[in-house]
Amino acid sequence: MTKSWTPQSWRAKPVRQVPAYPDAGAVAEVEGRLRKYPPLVFAGEARALKQELAQVAEGRAFLLQGGDCAESFAEHEADNIRDFFRVFLQMAAALTFGASQPVVKVGRIAGQFAKPRSADMEEKDGVNLPSYRGDIINGIDFDEKSRIPDPARMAMVYRQSAATLNLLRAFAQGGYANLENVHKWMLGFVDNSPQSERYKVLASRISETIDFMRAIGINPQNNSTLRETAFYTSHEALLLGYEEALTRIDSTTGDWYATSGHMLWIGDRTRQPDHAHVEYCRGVKNPVGLKCGPSLAPDELLRLVDTLNPENEAGRLTLIARFGSDRVAEFLPPLVRAIQREGRKVVWSCDPMHGNTITANGYKTRPFSRILQEVEAFFSVHHAEGSHPGGIHIEMTGKNVTECTGGARAISAEDLSDRYHTHCDPRLNADQALELAFLVAELLKKNRDANMMPMAVNS
Ligand code: PEP
Ligand code: CO
Repeated sequence: MTKSWTPQSWRAKPVRQVPAYPDAGAVAEVEGRLRKYPPLVFAGEARALKQELAQVAEGRAFLLQGGDCAESFAEHEADNIRDFFRVFLQMAAALTFGASQPVVKVGRIAGQFAKPRSADMEEKDGVNLPSYRGDIINGIDFDEKSRIPDPARMAMVYRQSAATLNLLRAFAQGGYANLENVHKWMLGFVDNSPQSERYKVLASRISETIDFMRAIGINPQNNSTLRETAFYTSHEALLLGYEEALTRIDSTTGDWYATSGHMLWIGDRTRQPDHAHVEYCRGVKNPVGLKCGPSLAPDELLRLVDTLNPENEAGRLTLIARFGSDRVAEFLPPLVRAIQREGRKVVWSCDPMHGNTITANGYKTRPFSRILQEVEAFFSVHHAEGSHPGGIHIEMTGKNVTECTGGARAISAEDLSDRYHTHCDPRLNADQALELAFLVAELLKKNRDANMMPMAVNS
């Protein structure tokens, strides 16, 4: 692999999942404008996330990554952002307690607008139209006007991402994430669910701990870690023209950074080693994720790791395993072994969503039981291989939607029609997301206890 990378060198490579824009001139015009806009995130922040992820790669922290499958213009509301953020904080609190480790918080938010699709066209009642590819490309309504790719949408995504990020920064640093608010993060509809009791117990223990620390002189006023949290953004680097336009040189290091989000990932459908998406991602210094599905062979993974992380830097690369509950036990171990054998420093994260999608009652859904099974199997594989189960990557919302079946409230296939709002894949609702966090916290605690037992050292 030569070093001759530029933000546009991807353009000379084969590329998948590209929209058919009718007017190339209009695309270039919008990209030209985006090139001049201010960066959405800063290189120093991306470096800070890389350092936090390095702790995960070394087994000293846990990654929580989650948010919408696809953000949309229609759902751009302050309440949606706040409700997502508070359930995310609740999950992080549960996980921190379970693992007794820092939790690295990365949202699929403020930029997650482009979707890979299995077919270029969609057919309904004899009418054929381009598939919906996310609000950054076209509209979800099934009519010709909506489905024709429109480059003006890129500028709308930039502005929506900036506004979303602005609110998230305020929440993370302006007092909302203060641990003294741990009781206030409870969402109304979760209040009378089975998760609420568990969460209240946890919140009370955290409050007691804060009271104790206050008594010895450590408080949110004099300690920023009690008052603020680091929250990062991420999305799939799919629409490369948009990414290229927001790629900037960091003046302090001279390195290139993607400034559309802190972390970018490469999807399972666009990870061909010699293609455009890998080419773009190899040249930016941000932390990068790589989705690993059943078709990824160990030698191909190693080739991708060489390309994406040639200096074997901890925190640079997160491998996001997404096999399906019935396949993870078979497909994950060979990949983990290849990485261990070659001494590659990576974060292993589990996406229990994308391999567990089924259709029920006419809806695309995911059974909560399968999501959980995949997470459990992921933990057992890592336990058996002696590697760190570093994180989870999930699709979730703070809203009380009915998109995934199961969970403590036992959403049935018949319930799906009640509040099915997603623009793409089915998300965990706040209740299910919190339930999953508690279950993962238990797995982490078990892992930690097993590692602390002297007998476990040679077993
Ligand atoms: C996604 O994360 O929304 C997605 C499309 O995932 P994958 O590339 O793993 O299929
Ligand atoms: Co998805």
